[in-house]
Amino acid sequence: MYEQVSHSLLNDILIALKPEIKKQNLQHFYIRLGANFYAIHSLFSRLYGDRPDFKAQMHRLVEMMIRQYIAREPHLKKLDIKREKDHNWFLSPEWVGFALYCQEFAGDLEGLKSKLFYLQDLGINMIHIMPILDCPKGKSDGGYAVRDFRKIYPAVGTLESLDDLINNLKKRDMLITLDVVVNHTSDEHEWAQKARQGDKKYQDYYFVFDDRETPDMYEETMPEVFPETAPGNFTWDEEMGKWVMTVFNNFQWDLNYKNPAVFIEMLDIILFWANHGADIIRLDAVAFLWKKIGSTCQNEREAHLILQLMKDCCQAVAPGVLFIAEAIVAPVEIIKYFGEDAINAKECEIAYNATLMALLWEAVATKKATLLNKGIRNLPNKLEQATWLNYIRCHDDIGWGFDDNDIRLAGYDPQAHRKFLVDYFTGEHPDSIARGLAFGRNERTGDARISGSLASLAGLENALALDNAELIDASIKTILLLHSITMSFGGIPLLYYGDALGTLNDVSYLEDEYKLNDSRWVHRPNMNWEKAALRTQTGTVENRIFAALKKMIAIRKEIPAFADHNNRELFDTDNLHLFVFSRFDTINSQSRILVVNNFDNNAQTLDLNNIKTGGLLQHTSFKDMLSGEMISIQEGQLTIPGLGFYWLQI
Ligand code: GLC
Repeated sequence: MYEQVSHSLLNDILIALKPEIKKQNLQHFYIRLGANFYAIHSLFSRLYGDRPDFKAQMHRLVEMMIRQYIAREPHLKKLDIKREKDHNWFLSPEWVGFALYCQEFAGDLEGLKSKLFYLQDLGINMIHIMPILDCPKGKSDGGYAVRDFRKIYPAVGTLESLDDLINNLKKRDMLITLDVVVNHTSDEHEWAQKARQGDKKYQDYYFVFDDRETPDMYEETMPEVFPETAPGNFTWDEEMGKWVMTVFNNFQWDLNYKNPAVFIEMLDIILFWANHGADIIRLDAVAFLWKKIGSTCQNEREAHLILQLMKDCCQAVAPGVLFIAEAIVAPVEIIKYFGEDAINAKECEIAYNATLMALLWEAVATKKATLLNKGIRNLPNKLEQATWLNYIRCHDDIGWGFDDNDIRLAGYDPQAHRKFLVDYFTGEHPDSIARGLAFGRNERTGDARISGSLASLAGLENALALDNAELIDASIKTILLLHSITMSFGGIPLLYYGDALGTLNDVSYLEDEYKLNDSRWVHRPNMNWEKAALRTQTGTVENRIFAALKKMIAIRKEIPAFADHNNRELFDTDNLHLFVFSRFDTINSQSRILVVNNFDNNAQTLDLNNIKTGGLLQHTSFKDMLSGEMISIQEGQLTIPGLGFYWLQI
């Protein structure tokens, strides 16, 4: 959009550039900057327009972007142009993700390179390496308390070894996702150290207070993220003699985005990693980016403006790079991280589908899809050029962030139902075979989240201990049922390392003084490569899971209807155990896949008379894409085995 004020400012900025910059051929950059500048200027002035140094900060922002564009290597610039032309590239069903901790999975970056064949064997082509940046030992929050945003944790490797790995991945056509922890730094970060030493400039990078007056006001409305290990949202720093905001652990200092210098620093870091070849950047804890007294300090309007600004700036420098929003918040809030009132994603192109994840676990516990059906129906459609990251487990806990109203509509009392889920997954409920652990239990509110590996939560740990073939079978089926949904629902499926082999909980974290208070470590084990080798041995648990998953991934990639274009239709059925939807090919709308999932241990019937999609009843059988078998229909009734699922070609 052409608008005089912003464009005359842009002219001033460009005229003031140093001659060595003016000499460069920056045509692509200038076109993109021109296209986005009105938005960049509006957002920046909305956030920082009251400041006397506003214009100087705008100059700094643009200069930094130009510097990063100049540093961007030609092969990445080429990729940017390719992706601009094929802007829906990431909606294709070809992508299957995998999240891993480098050290636990493979020792170090060099080791990881030698394990890529394992991922490729499974069909993975997008890896998320969990944070590998320099963190203080023991005070790292699994890599999310960063001491230096541009240095790799020495035990994992160096910047050169990461570059080498990324080159290797590119040759294999695999994408790489890296984290940028935008909300906070370690208390040992250089900025925090300077703040501690009394440097006012860096105290302004954080939320620092002399006394409890303001912190107490914030506390009136701020919930606690880690109530057991880090109660409250502020920490007294002895050396600085001040209170500092620490929403997560007391060693993670929240960054103050009311200061434009913080925004510019963090964008610079995002672009630094984009220029190291990250295809996707996972922006951690984005819901927390803006703090306001009298609010929960989550999902604030300004947090969205910051993300929009980050996206607009990143599009000018590195348009091929996507953002993932890690916003594990209420369903109606998550969707906003794509950007509201837009067609293309304005903030992040990808968001964790925490709603689906939690609903799937609820269906496992109740053996019914009632809440799942309600919850998914009430989830607004995503934007056209945006997609979900569909996952079952990740490195974090499972929170029960459903909408209370949906819980009531499903016929449950919200508080009692959440308590049931905690009891179920911690194995306290008499009907439960799950072996999870409570996480973040809040004695005041009674809330708790759940830690535990996919296999242990699905009952495999218990079943193996009992040596009960029937239970082992049921837990493997549950695991595959969940994968079937994340593979077919629409979005990028994200597997968590270990889950393709049925990895159980690992309690060795209890021997580590730094980890023992954080039960999330129970599902962050060292990869057991001997067990991984069993994946090729027929009949082993590892083989039963891995082989089925590998096949599922291969088939997913070949189904055009699984591309993510809001091409899903959910069906009401009168069978409470079933979750049924169809996916249609947007190019050839005649080509449909009917996905039928049964959460009950017993066989269930789907009455096709209730499925209002063209001509189903004319058929006496359908082909299941997964098994290749013809599934017969008896008088309009389709029978699905206990914990079974079909991908039926219509
Ligand atoms: C994100 C991470 C989580 C971490 C938190 C604080 O939610 O996924 O592991 O504890 O941010 O950095």
